[in-house]
Amino acid sequence: MSKKPLILGIETSCDETAASLITEDGQGVPIVLSNVVSSQIDVHKEFGGVVPELAARSHTEKIDLIVKKAIKDSEKNIAEIDAIAATAGPGLIVCLSVGLSFGKALAATLNKPFIAINHLEGHALSPKLNSKLKYPYLVLLISGGHSQFLSVQGLGKYKRLGTTIDDALGEAFDKTAKLLGIEFPGGPQIEILAQKGDPNKYDLPKPIFNKGGCNLSFAGLKTAVLKISKNINNEKEKFDLAASFQKTIEKILYKKTKIAFFEFEKLNELKEKNFVIAGGVAANKKIREMMINLCNEKGYKSIFPPINLCGDNAAMIGMVGLEKYKIGEFNDLNFPAKPRWPLDEKALFLKGAGVKL
Ligand code: KG4
Ligand code: ZN
Repeated sequence: MSKKPLILGIETSCDETAASLITEDGQGVPIVLSNVVSSQIDVHKEFGGVVPELAARSHTEKIDLIVKKAIKDSEKNIAEIDAIAATAGPGLIVCLSVGLSFGKALAATLNKPFIAINHLEGHALSPKLNSKLKYPYLVLLISGGHSQFLSVQGLGKYKRLGTTIDDALGEAFDKTAKLLGIEFPGGPQIEILAQKGDPNKYDLPKPIFNKGGCNLSFAGLKTAVLKISKNINNEKEKFDLAASFQKTIEKILYKKTKIAFFEFEKLNELKEKNFVIAGGVAANKKIREMMINLCNEKGYKSIFPPINLCGDNAAMIGMVGLEKYKIGEFNDLNFPAKPRWPLDEKALFLKGAGVKL
């Protein structure tokens, strides 16, 4: 039997230093041999958000150890690695540069191909780590830096159907949490507090709910939360605001996803309808539940990455690396770090004041 490719994935685009070894089985299904993720929550907690320079320093201190641990956990030898895949963007440039330089240096030393990976492609294809997926499929990518609906036509082929015109959904969760006095990153805590509150207590705005196709907007919602949070006097009201926020997000995503389904169906001849929900916020159980119900209603199959692979990790980076390795798609060692790197290069930039929807 021929040797299966062994890929080292490296991820340092934001505040997680991660490395993973990936191979595949006889059917071409990826196998995660190791998956090491070191979070920097403690480094950034006191600042209420990610501080790029501190994040970069922490990546620099840890990257060597994390890669060594990933190799050790995989029970493989460094010499067996066939290619090195590292995130090249989008993300914080000082952070990206750490993993990217490390990956390139290792590729040069081992004399193995180097593959530059788009972090968003990692999230978009991450369900391939636990399910067989056929193209085309629709993906909703909801993370701390991005919120978009994409029609995935194939590896490297994306058509953006909608995007946020201001904040990302994870950012909205984190900012709401901060206003409620919850430590960074508060997104996951909102979901927990929400279970104790009344979701109908506060009537929060749903920006661009009735216009803008499946584009999204969360800035107005955050402003409303800010105003209400100033008058919160007890724990009960805090729980109610968390619950009302969670409920409002569900309503927005329900409506916008229905529009995205329609646009996806207009674009593709479909034999089966698959909908992937990926990125850090896809770990939110209530959002998952709502999406599963919506998919049942509309004849879609709902697909999620495993919860531990929703957030940033290197397994998804190694897996895209594996796909690219199989078709010989390698990159030069002078491939730059790209802070902005949209999956659909043709899509309009839709952020900031004056956006026409
Ligand atoms: O994909 P990710 O790990 O990093 C980026 O690429 O941004 O996403 C992180 C985001 C954070 O904003 C975090 O608060 C949010 O995902 N998040 C959640 C939950 N778990 C993580 N938001 C809501 N509910 C959750 N359970
Ligand atoms: Zn991410």
